[in-house]
Amino acid sequence: MNQEFDSGPRQDSPDFVRDVGDRVTRIISDCLAGRTTQSITDPTPVAELRALFNERLPRKGTDHRRLLDRFSEQVVPHTLVNTSPGYLGLMNPTPVTLSIFADALTSLINQNQAASHHSPAGSVIEEVVIRWLGEAVGYGEDCHGHLTSGGTVANLTGLKLALHRAAPGVRDKGLVAAGRRFTVYASDQLHFSVERSVDILGLGRDALRLVPTGPDATVDPHVMRQMIEGDRRDGMDPLAIMGIAGTTAAGAVDPLMELADLAREAGLWFHVDAAYGGAVGLSREYPGVLAGVERADSVTVDAHKWFFVPFVAGGILFRDRTFAEDVFQNAAGYIPPSEDADLPPTDYLKQGLAGTRRFNALKVWMAFKHLGADWYTSVVDHQMGLTRKVTEVITELPDWKIAVPPATAIVTFRHEPEALTEAINNGGVNAKGALKKRDRLQIRIAEVIQNEGRFWVSAAPVPGGFALRLNVISWLTDEALVDAFLAELPRYAQEAAADRS
Ligand SMILES: Cc1ncc(COP(=O)(O)O)c(C=O)c1O
Repeated sequence: MNQEFDSGPRQDSPDFVRDVGDRVTRIISDCLAGRTTQSITDPTPVAELRALFNERLPRKGTDHRRLLDRFSEQVVPHTLVNTSPGYLGLMNPTPVTLSIFADALTSLINQNQAASHHSPAGSVIEEVVIRWLGEAVGYGEDCHGHLTSGGTVANLTGLKLALHRAAPGVRDKGLVAAGRRFTVYASDQLHFSVERSVDILGLGRDALRLVPTGPDATVDPHVMRQMIEGDRRDGMDPLAIMGIAGTTAAGAVDPLMELADLAREAGLWFHVDAAYGGAVGLSREYPGVLAGVERADSVTVDAHKWFFVPFVAGGILFRDRTFAEDVFQNAAGYIPPSEDADLPPTDYLKQGLAGTRRFNALKVWMAFKHLGADWYTSVVDHQMGLTRKVTEVITELPDWKIAVPPATAIVTFRHEPEALTEAINNGGVNAKGALKKRDRLQIRIAEVIQNEGRFWVSAAPVPGGFALRLNVISWLTDEALVDAFLAELPRYAQEAAADRS
């Protein structure tokens, strides 16, 4: 029996569905138009926000019109507008419009991508999307894998594959049975998900060997080799090398080809974390940045970063599906296997951590189909170009220095008045103090920029200390906006300096 809601008509009545749809579409359209002028940050104190939403579990329903109005009036104004063209911030992209609606369609059909018979078309579309991501990154379309909740789980999955190759018995008997002390090698610029992964896999965070980075925020493969050899001499069992294609702070790309050579020589698994940088594989104007990624055993690539789809759509790519299915195999008696075809359809349940899985592949599929890889190429090239322009301008600005030149579409830089430079160059105790002061100055400048609400950049630790970090991550950001930001930089620095005195 259909239940009547006192808050409105039947859930599936066409008039109700259309009314909801029309209203939601209007909200979306208003938000998309408003994001260019809305302040990026919202200064409302959390106590006020709690007061707005703090209520007991509602026993009665609310009319959808009132609820949707509430969304517009009480949620939208209190967001961080990371879809604004002025958001030059973390890896939170401006989603392409069709992918926003695709998310609703995914919810509409509510497929469970755990098993192909619970998502017949969806499972095949996810296979296709994985191949497209492989091709886009430069890993090659001859790959398997699946979408994850993000790069964090993708990195964990990659390292679990590595562990299974080195010690398959760990799956059933645990690390104790392996009786080996595994170590993993990655740049000291790595994302925290790698630390968590070695912990969750039972290797322990001490198993992670942080390879020091140079001024360009990349590792030196020779240093990594020495660390591997040293560990072997000390009775450790090196397991995997992680190369980063786009570090979180500076967007730096490790020398993947040399790391691939090292991994092969040392007999180690090679995982590439291209969670952010994967899209550079589509660049025409900056070719070869990810050269070597094709030699990885596994690759993390997040569609919800530089491929402009809404959260969540992380991804893990690998070559060998059967191997991955051995790693994660489980008897789930209540889900019959789909193994009656010549080429068995993918039951994603078998090759990763997740059980119930959303059909997130739809929004990625629609984004690629709607805009085409060439669109991505032009946007990536444009964004890379903008960060190069920022680099050129800042290099010429007195009292400003580039910290790490851009390898992707992230550039980091510092405000460093002459007195600070002198104190740093003179060395000694004063230099230490000056470096701390310089760190604080960058953090304060980022706060001044964020508080104003027109632009958003962060301060992040890169080799040498904190720097301002500018990531062109919105496809809406254009040269005029970047020029406007650069013109304001001296004022932001002045305000930050004035604040501190
Ligand atoms: C290099 C890198 N790897 C992994 C991740 C984790 O991705 P997610 O936040 O989607 O889990 C990030 C996130 O910023 C990242 O920058």
